[in-house]
Amino acid sequence: MIIATGLDELRTARLLLDPEVGLVPTMGYLHEGHLSLIRKAKAECRSVVVSIFVNPTQFAPTEDLAKYPRDLERDLKLIEPIGVDLVWNPTPEIMYPSGYQTWVEVDALTKRLEGAMRPTHFKGVTTVVAKLFNAVQPQRAYFGQKDAQQAAVIRRMTRDLDFPVEIVVCPIVREPDGLAMSSRNKYLEGDDRKAALVLFRALSAAKDAYQAGERDAEVLRRKMKEVIQAEPRAQMQYVSCADYDSLEELESVSGKTLLSMAVLIGKTRLIDNFVLE
Ligand code: PAJ
Repeated sequence: MIIATGLDELRTARLLLDPEVGLVPTMGYLHEGHLSLIRKAKAECRSVVVSIFVNPTQFAPTEDLAKYPRDLERDLKLIEPIGVDLVWNPTPEIMYPSGYQTWVEVDALTKRLEGAMRPTHFKGVTTVVAKLFNAVQPQRAYFGQKDAQQAAVIRRMTRDLDFPVEIVVCPIVREPDGLAMSSRNKYLEGDDRKAALVLFRALSAAKDAYQAGERDAEVLRRKMKEVIQAEPRAQMQYVSCADYDSLEELESVSGKTLLSMAVLIGKTRLIDNFVLE
């Protein structure tokens, strides 16, 4: 496994790989969710590149950039046995050299849901992912359904900017009790860990109603709200029942649909979603 930091180092190593490259972009502090993406890339591509970069431009000044968990040594130990060919771990100065001023922005899709709560977030995500695509030139890139809007935004950017990259979206990996795995779960202590299950409970309540025949999107949103409001440690930011691709809120459910939410548990902000097919 080659570990590259500089762009030249990355390009030299990339040229030696079989060109059927699968890229898994991450911010590190890897868990089973990330590893499931890397395993899928390994199963489907001759070469696998993993990027580990805590991207400063997708964090607002008030967010957790400084305390975002980092442990490169542990990450490398986790991915080495999977058979990853190349790890790229650039510094912020390599990605954003002094004088940097070029951005990639997706329009309407980034104004809703997460974008409404975190107005500068997706501009940072799309810019860094475009830069990763240009530097690594993968055939496929792997993203998690955990960040459903991120996956939708990246699909849109890839189509709009003609990147010759196939976007593969992988299912959410959960803890045995249903909590979606996330690097930020590390912040959940004591009773907050138990309270965090409210997201899974709320999504399950809406899904049960859907499976029992409910198609009114407002009723599904209300079911999720009621479950969240019954948990004293939880503060709801949004619940949504939206079209899977456009993320527009629905009145009634017919095609592929995304149930999603953001909830504060104490100071920790958690997101989760279910897809109704
Ligand atoms: P990060 O939060 O490290 O996540 C990297 C990838 O792992 C994302 O595609 C995310 O959706 C996926 N992932 C996280 N938790 C998951 C889970 N429980 N199950 C399945 N997949 C999961 O997302 C980012 O980094 C960044 O925004 C990035 C795309 C790397 C750009 O900086």
